[in-house]
Amino acid sequence: MSKPKFQSPAGMHDILPEDQPYYDAVAAAAKEVFSFYDFKKIDTPILESAEIFYKGVGQCTDIVEKEMYAFRARGGKDILALRPEGTASIVRAYIQHGFQSLPQPVKLWYFGPFFRHERPQAGRFRQFWQFGGEILGEKDALADAQLISILCGIFEELKLGNVIVRINSIGDDACRPAYKKWLYRFLKSKKLSLCKDCQKRAKTNPLRVLDCKNEKCIELLKEAPQMIDSLCEDCRGHLKEVLEYLEELKIPYVLDPFLVRGLDYYSKTVFEVEPADAGEERQGSLSGGGRYDNLAKMLGGGNIPACGVAGGVERIIALMKAKNFKPRQPSTPQIFLAQIGPLAKKRSLAIIDELRKANIKIAESFSKDSLKSQLGRANKLNIQNVIIIGQKEALQGLAILRNMETGKQSEIKQEEIVKEIKKSLKEN
Ligand code: HAM
Repeated sequence: MSKPKFQSPAGMHDILPEDQPYYDAVAAAAKEVFSFYDFKKIDTPILESAEIFYKGVGQCTDIVEKEMYAFRARGGKDILALRPEGTASIVRAYIQHGFQSLPQPVKLWYFGPFFRHERPQAGRFRQFWQFGGEILGEKDALADAQLISILCGIFEELKLGNVIVRINSIGDDACRPAYKKWLYRFLKSKKLSLCKDCQKRAKTNPLRVLDCKNEKCIELLKEAPQMIDSLCEDCRGHLKEVLEYLEELKIPYVLDPFLVRGLDYYSKTVFEVEPADAGEERQGSLSGGGRYDNLAKMLGGGNIPACGVAGGVERIIALMKAKNFKPRQPSTPQIFLAQIGPLAKKRSLAIIDELRKANIKIAESFSKDSLKSQLGRANKLNIQNVIIIGQKEALQGLAILRNMETGKQSEIKQEEIVKEIKKSLKEN
């Protein structure tokens, strides 16, 4: 069969009905766990001023420099961007709506699509979904640990198995500049042996070199200075507290000195939470987050310490499928309504509405005229109880209730249809 002319854009997918229960399961787990911790849901626009990402995520990050869909809107002066992530938008909303005046911290969660112009491959899409949560206005290390615990809780709900946290501190404005210089000097001494991207990054954003996936760079970086040895007292104390909370929560973690994450707004804690045994099924990181105490200031707000997490829904679903997670399917109809003749057809619409209000799910097949084909459809759908309304019944305000399995049938009044159906559903 030849390919239809029009396809969804590369790296962007339709979420077909059969996959919806998986998205629903992830959204429901996120909603349940975030709500328990008193997070409130927020939706921000898909389009934002590109500047919030230039300033917040960083001009020299891959996400902004290479992957952001940015364009000048028709007739407009501003450059808009399809949001590549959620945190900068939420901080923008926090400042815009004056959330500083609310009791702090403000806890917000979200679920929605994001866009990055990456090279499409397994687990890497140009439109993908994330759930995420942000705690704004809180500097205590407990917030960092609570977010990690929330991610673990969501993964537990989705039966993803044991998880492991990779965690690091990338310091703050007091200690990171000196470390960056130190790292830069080290990278300069190795320059010719680094991959092309890292040769450039060494100058523009040396921290980013630390999470390069090139084998040669990984080998060279084994001798690189580590941020953890350069942390100031405040950052060291903060990391120690986060780790103590994780120990208290019995959440397993490994300190990963090479974890820097691909967004420039982070300070102090950065982490990724992964299933411990993801193995072959792993398609890149499942989730990540960290502290971003300077982001609000970068976006023109005040001094608002904050931290957050986000999980990649498609990658999580791939793992749910690999682990045979069975999402709850939408409820199936319990009753089939068959009608013969124009009057019965008209009457059916009101009956269906009545049943919907009584929460009885019903199937029908209005496009088929013969009773035989309608009953055939009920059979296919595996529905035992059928309501039949013919011309005579429609005129007399009656209906026939038939049990397809036993063949037993009775005449009922249309006005008592809900009561009679409930009785019959109870009996079989
Ligand atoms: P991120 O690590 O860039 O963090 O993205 C979070 C998750 O989104 C990743 O762990 C991954 O599962 C998923 N993801 C990212 N890119 C793709 C892609 N191209 N295709 C499929 N899945 C993808 C953030 O976005 C931060 N905003 C997280 C955060 C919240 N930090 C603080 N608060």
